[in-house]
Amino acid sequence: MQRNYQYYKQALRGNQFPLCFLDVDLLKENCKQIKTRISHSKKIRIASKSIRSVEVLKMITDFDKDLFSGIMCFSMAEAVFLSQKGFDNLLVAYPCMQEKLMEELCVEIKKGKTIILMVDCKKHVDAIQAVAKKNNIVVSICLDIDMSTDFPGLHFGVWRSSLFNKNQVLELVAHIQKNNHVRLDGLMGYEAQIAGVGDNAPGQILKNKAIQLLKKISQKEISKRRKEIVEAIQAKGIKLKFVNGGGTGSIEQTCTEEVVTEIAVGSGFYSPSLFDYYNSFKHQAALAFAVEIVRNPKPNVYTCHGGGYIASGSVGKEKLPIPYLPNGIKLFENEGVGEVQTPFIYSGNEKLEMGDPILMRHAKAGEVCERFNEIILIADGKVMGKVPTYRGEGKCFL
Ligand SMILES: Cc1ncc(COP(=O)(O)O)c(C=O)c1O
Repeated sequence: MQRNYQYYKQALRGNQFPLCFLDVDLLKENCKQIKTRISHSKKIRIASKSIRSVEVLKMITDFDKDLFSGIMCFSMAEAVFLSQKGFDNLLVAYPCMQEKLMEELCVEIKKGKTIILMVDCKKHVDAIQAVAKKNNIVVSICLDIDMSTDFPGLHFGVWRSSLFNKNQVLELVAHIQKNNHVRLDGLMGYEAQIAGVGDNAPGQILKNKAIQLLKKISQKEISKRRKEIVEAIQAKGIKLKFVNGGGTGSIEQTCTEEVVTEIAVGSGFYSPSLFDYYNSFKHQAALAFAVEIVRNPKPNVYTCHGGGYIASGSVGKEKLPIPYLPNGIKLFENEGVGEVQTPFIYSGNEKLEMGDPILMRHAKAGEVCERFNEIILIADGKVMGKVPTYRGEGKCFL
C-alpha cells in the first residue's frame, strides 16, 4: 500500500494528537534491508538509544534471532532495566562512575546475566574493580578505542575515548590484568565520522564528494589501526569474545573488517531524517509523529499544537524535525518548530481541516521517544495496538 497522507490519516482517525507512530510494515522492511547489508557473517548488536521502547526492541530481536546478538545500552540504569525485562548480553557502551548503579548491575550479574561495562582509562577500571571486589564477582569489561582520523586542520571524528593507539591500549590492558575482579572480554570502536555523517545530501555535489573521499581514506586507516590493536591484545593471551564496530551508516564498510565480529545498529530501524542521505543505502521512514491543526491564521497557513522536538548535537537546521506529510507542507524559516505551537505553510492538494494531523519526522531515531509515552503501531493501514516508550514506563535514563 502506498504510504501517503491519506493512508496515515485514515489509519490514525480517532486517536488523540499529538502522537508518535511506528509503521510496523516499514520497520520489518528496514530489518530486511539491514540484514541484506550485513556480510561476512557479522552479528548485529542493537543500539537501544535509537529505539527506546522495550516492546520495539523485542519486535526487532524477534525478526531474526540468529542475526541479533545482544543490546548496546546507553546507560547502566538502562542495562539494569533491560536485564529485569528479560534481556541478556547487555553492553553498556558509555562509561559511568556511579557506584550505586554498578552495585545494581552486580545484582543482575550475580543472577547469571552477561553485562559488559565500558572503559577507556585506569579510573574506569579501578571504579569497576572496587565494586566487583566488594560483591566478590568478576565483571566483564570492554575497551572503547578512538576511531577518528586526524587530517591537517580537521579532526574527522568525535572526542570520546582516550585510547588512540596500540601503546595506550596495551598500557591499559596491563593495568586490567593486574585487577582480578575485571576481565577484558570485548573491544569497541565507533567510527562516527563514517557511520554518522551523511554523504549524499541533495544539491551538495562537491561537499558529498569531499565527505566520500575523507570517509574512504579514514576507513582504510582505522581498519588497519583496529586490526593492529586486536592483534596486540590477543598477543597478550587475551581471548576477546567480541569486537564491535560501526553503526547504521557504515554497515557495508565495517563488515569488511575481518577482526570485527559485530556491528552496532540502531537508527536504521526507525530511519530518521538524518539518515535520509547516505550514498550506500536508503531505509524507510518507519517512525514519525503527528501534530493536530488547531488554527488557520491565513489560507494555506496551518498552526499545530506541539512539534518542537529538536535533536541533540551541534546547532543547525538539520536538527529540526522535518515536515513529512502531506507533500507540500513546510515550516516557516523564522519560527521553526515551537514549544507549544508550530505553524506550517501548505502548497499541496489535500483539503486540510481543523483537527487534521500534520506528520513530521524527527532528525534522530530514539530521542523523539522521550516526548511520548506510547508509540501507536500501524500495520496494513490500521492501528494494531500501542506500546510504551521508556518514558511511558516512567524511565528517563539520560
Ligand atoms: C558507540 C556507538 N556505536 C554505534 C552507534 C551507531 O548507532 P546508530 O545505528 O543508531 O547510528 C552509536 C551512535 O551514536 C554509538 O554511540
